[in-house]
Amino acid sequence: MKIIGTGSAIPSLSVTNDMLSVFLDTSDEWIKTRTGIVERRIISDENLKDLAVEAAKKALEEANMDGSQLDYIICSNVVNYYVTPSMSCLISGEINASCPCVDLNAACSGFVYGLDMAQAYQLAGKAKNILVICAEEPTRMCSWKDRNTAVLFGDGAAAAVVTEGNDFNASYITAKYRPEILYYQRALEDCPFVTYQQRGVPMYMNGKEVFKMAVNASIEGIERILKETGLTADQVDHYILHQANMRIIETIRNQLHQPVEKFPHNIERLGNTSSATIPLLLDELNKSGQLKQGDTIVLSGFGAGFTAGTCLFTWTMN
Ligand code: ACO
Repeated sequence: MKIIGTGSAIPSLSVTNDMLSVFLDTSDEWIKTRTGIVERRIISDENLKDLAVEAAKKALEEANMDGSQLDYIICSNVVNYYVTPSMSCLISGEINASCPCVDLNAACSGFVYGLDMAQAYQLAGKAKNILVICAEEPTRMCSWKDRNTAVLFGDGAAAAVVTEGNDFNASYITAKYRPEILYYQRALEDCPFVTYQQRGVPMYMNGKEVFKMAVNASIEGIERILKETGLTADQVDHYILHQANMRIIETIRNQLHQPVEKFPHNIERLGNTSSATIPLLLDELNKSGQLKQGDTIVLSGFGAGFTAGTCLFTWTMN
């Protein structure tokens, strides 16, 4: 498998830490030092599907491909206005695609899970050209009265078009049962046969537990794929990690004894956009010419579940 196009789209509204401190008991100083976030983009006038379509069109354009040439669309999405039909189906109608579509919910690990699925479809001979897209609006899952969660998130969409090739060398995805440390529960319709009606619960997060799980899962994944490929940490050119917290990224970097330049980040501008963080950063690096042909790239994501996914590939796009 190889990537032949990337694209992304972010909301127009930028919300700074100072803007949050107007209605939350927080400060720019606290958010910056604890998370690295300075501002985030939040959906206001736009809608998530339109951002996803924009990201998909940009990725297809770079891949020099029309939506009709896609054999599969895999969309990582946790919430959006529609529960059904899936976000991938909604996207397909606007990019002239007529292939099978599926959504996956692996929380913030969704991009790596999606790439892993795409490769499996290719190896099974079921699909060649696949759109892997992440479209997320976690800002609609938190309570905006809860400073523990609301300050962390932003919205966005980003995509990659993949086709057959030999660039992807290793992938390792996991899921460990820890629903109690990070969850969001949605309200269900009333039903006359149900005695206990389930109401929604805004996102709950045990930050310290998530922090530990995140670091351990990423390190486990990275060590595993390095062993599998016979490479050392020094031979990797870019570690593109889930942008959840700058301190998580720094802890992983320190454990791997790698220089800061190998750990690009945009969390300061975009916050945590769930599964969209990795493809958003990949697209930024691609479009700004920071990825060179032959570079070795590691992607590593982690999220609710607790899921994690790490993969390693060679960059062959110019
Ligand atoms: N502003 C000001 N104070 C705050 C805020 C805020 N936004 N949020 C929490 N605090 C307070 C707490 O109430 C607590 O006060 P107390 O000591 O009086 O009780 C104090 O700050 C310290 O809270 P801690 O939870 O100890 O803060 P910590 O240093 O652990 O940082 C954080 C919290 C940023 C959530 C950290 O634990 C973290 O990053 N965890 C990882 C979770 C993560 O990244 N989640 C992203 C979403 S999940 C995902 O993407 C996988």
